[in-house]
Order: sequence, then C-alpha cells, then structure tokens
Amino acid sequence: MPRKKQFEKPLNGDKESLRFATPEPIARYRAQRLKCRILADISCGIGGQTIFFAQQCEAVYAVEIDPQKIEYAKQNCEMYGLKNVTFICGDALDPEVIARLPKVDVVFSDPARPATEAKRRVSSIEPGIPKVLEAYREKTSNFAFEAPPQLSPERIPFACEKEYLSLDGQLNRLTLYFGALKQFDRLAVALPAGEGLVAQENPLSKLQETEKLKLYAYEPEPSVVAAGLLPELIDSMIDLTGPFVGSYELFRVDKKRLLLTADAFAKQSMIKNHYLVLGTKSFNPKEINAFLKGKNVGNVVLRAGINPKAYWTVRKELEEGLRGKKTVHLFVKGDTAILCEVLFKN
Ligand SMILES: C[S@@+](CC[C@H](N)C(=O)[O-])C[C@H]1O[C@@H](n2cnc3c(N)ncnc32)[C@H](O)[C@@H]1O
Repeated sequence: MPRKKQFEKPLNGDKESLRFATPEPIARYRAQRLKCRILADISCGIGGQTIFFAQQCEAVYAVEIDPQKIEYAKQNCEMYGLKNVTFICGDALDPEVIARLPKVDVVFSDPARPATEAKRRVSSIEPGIPKVLEAYREKTSNFAFEAPPQLSPERIPFACEKEYLSLDGQLNRLTLYFGALKQFDRLAVALPAGEGLVAQENPLSKLQETEKLKLYAYEPEPSVVAAGLLPELIDSMIDLTGPFVGSYELFRVDKKRLLLTADAFAKQSMIKNHYLVLGTKSFNPKEINAFLKGKNVGNVVLRAGINPKAYWTVRKELEEGLRGKKTVHLFVKGDTAILCEVLFKN
C-alpha cells in the first residue's frame, strides 16, 4: 500500500490521492487558522487535512464521496490517535448527507479538480463553491475553500479573502475564506516560516517597470506575486525614515520570472533571494565561467527555462574550476545572461 512520506507519519492512500493530499506544513497552518469547536471537511479525500483539523477542533465531520478514500481517511486518523472524527461516505451536496451534520462553526472544502486544464477555472472544481455555499447555509456562514493557486485574484468572482501560500519558495495553495473567516482582501503567506504580507487599500508605491537592473535585485516569494502584492512588498522595503536611495522597480526576466531592483539594500522576509547584481553577459557558458573566476564563486544556479537534459551539461561548463563559497543565480532575458550573487536567502 503506497504511503506518503512528507507527513510526520506516512499516510495511507492510493497513488493519486497521496499526490493531492495537503502537504503537512500547509495542513497544520490551515488547521491553526480554522481552529474552532465543530468543523466539517466536506471533501476530505484520504484525510491529509482532516487529521490536523481534528488535532485543533473539538469535533470534525469528514465527508467523502469515494468509499475507498474514506477508508484511508479513517486509517490515517486512527494512525494519529484521533477519536473526534465522524466519517460520512456520500455526496457532500446530497440533502441526506447534509442532514446528518449538526450546525458547525466552519465548513471546509478542498474540492476535486480536473487533472489537467489549459487554463484553471474556479467553475471546474467539484463540488462547486456556489452550490456548497447554498447547500450549507443553514449550517454556518463561515466557509473556507481550496482553489487552484494559478487563479489570479481578479478571476475569483466571490467577495472572499484570497490567501496564497508558498511552501519552500514555490507557490503551493490558494485558500478562499468567507463569512467571519474573511480577514483581508488578499494575503500572501510563506511556509514553513509563516511570514505574511497583507493587501492594503492604497499602497504608497506604484509599480514601475524597468529594463535596467540596478545594484541589487530581489526575488519575491511567489505567493506575493500571485496575490498581486508587489506594491505592498515595496512599501515594506522602503525605509521612510532613512536617506532616499532610489526606488524599487520591476524587472521582468521572462514570462515566469520577475525581480525587483533598487540601489538600496533591504532585507525582507517575503523576499526569497536577495542579490547583488554582478552584471550582464551574452549567454556563453565559457565566457561567463571566465568572468566568475577569481570571484570566490562555487555554484552557478541556472534560473531559466532550459531543457532538463541540457541543464547539467551547461551547469558543468559554467562551474568548471570554480571552487569558491559564493552562489550565483544566472537568469536569462532574451540572449542576455544576468548574473546575480546570492547575498541572503529566506
Ligand atoms: C483534492 S481531494 C481532497 C484532499 C484532502 N484535502 C487531503 O488533504 O487529503 C478532493 C476530494 O473531493 C472528493 N469529492 C469530489 N466531489 C465530491 C462530493 N460531491 N462530495 C464529497 N466528496 C467529493 C473527491 O473524491 C476527492 O477525494
């Protein structure tokens, strides 16, 4: 029986459900945020999230349409020694299933979604958000839903909080909070550290784009970018009391990657990597290698959409004979290589 190892105790489940189970740091964070007396997890799968709700709440109702998955959920809760979960196998939208639940403090749903979709849509998740809000309105007004994190805030047609979560520097989850659970319009959180950034009604900074990198470059946590919080991030980096050393601007590397750049150095917990910009070169590994010699560099990490088969060949050429302590990230914009020395990582 396959088990998922990223959990403190490896979970039981089939391969597909293990892949979709909530990673433990996310599940723990969410359970803290949704801590209440009675919670219903109405699409619980194999229980990756249910376990942590049950550790925080007095009672949890776990609903799942697939009989095999709910069996795994029972085994997983048992493995964690939890005795406060009531399991219900059935369609979460079936009135008979809903009738078996008491009034609850929170309804949580991590719905199923198509395995692949050209463009993620909030309407393709199952059970759908409007239907759940309607079906459970007698039970609570506090709902939380998981939605695909690729959805930008403008594409979420509900008056809810949009919380983008990154885990180990990668965008991982989006949670939507309704009713009294809604605290902000948008929030970005970086896990496992648990640092956050909140949307402001009128951030001071306006996002200005530039084609030229300044002395320093900053790679924001992907949850900040996904939540549309770059102006708030810049606001948090400007020392309003200090000397003016130039503003932060947005430098687009390619379709997926962007950096903030400034002549000022600031440390911020929602910045994944803080860089000193070493310079730009044409993308010629041998020339770049020669440029980096004598600069105490040991690693050159390629940050470009490069064919995975070619990655290590190119990287070997870039790092040939480099024995230093510093790490350089190499971004590629068009034909130009941008060399950034890592000064500080979160
Ligand atoms: C993404 S998985 C949940 C994963 C779970 N949160 C975890 O961490 O292990 C979504 C689940 O919703 C279930 N589901 C889909 N439609 C449902 C419905 N109408 N009622 C109940 N469960 C449903 C699917 O069978 C699937 O197991």
